[in-house]
Amino acid sequence: MTTETWHPVSRLDVLPRDRAVPALVDDHQLAVVRLADDRVFAVDHRDPFSGAHVIARGIVGSATVDGVEVPTLTSPMFKQVFDLRTGRCLVDDSKRLATWDVRLRDGMIEVRPRASGAAEDQPEVAS
Ligand code: FES
Repeated sequence: MTTETWHPVSRLDVLPRDRAVPALVDDHQLAVVRLADDRVFAVDHRDPFSGAHVIARGIVGSATVDGVEVPTLTSPMFKQVFDLRTGRCLVDDSKRLATWDVRLRDGMIEVRPRASGAAEDQPEVAS
């Protein structure tokens, strides 16, 4: 899934802040997160540790990584904490959450699978 068109998932203004919500893109289940400052991130709904589709029920928060505050999502299953920008697990880096590129077009959030090898730092989207 590298050469991808963008898929609309939701209008930004209908999403609750600091919550993850589930979305479906081509049978692929995602968790979309709108932060309080309107940055938006999209990651796989599937928890890589348990294999269960639970990530959109996770807890949005933040953590300090290398002196920088990063947005996080904590799995409701085994409580792993993932960096929303990169999908990296902060407590066990043997697995990571797949991350999606996000952009905003006319108030609509659009996503596409992130090409493997793409820069880890996701461009941040603000309205
Ligand atoms: S084909 Fe569109 S998400 Fe994979």
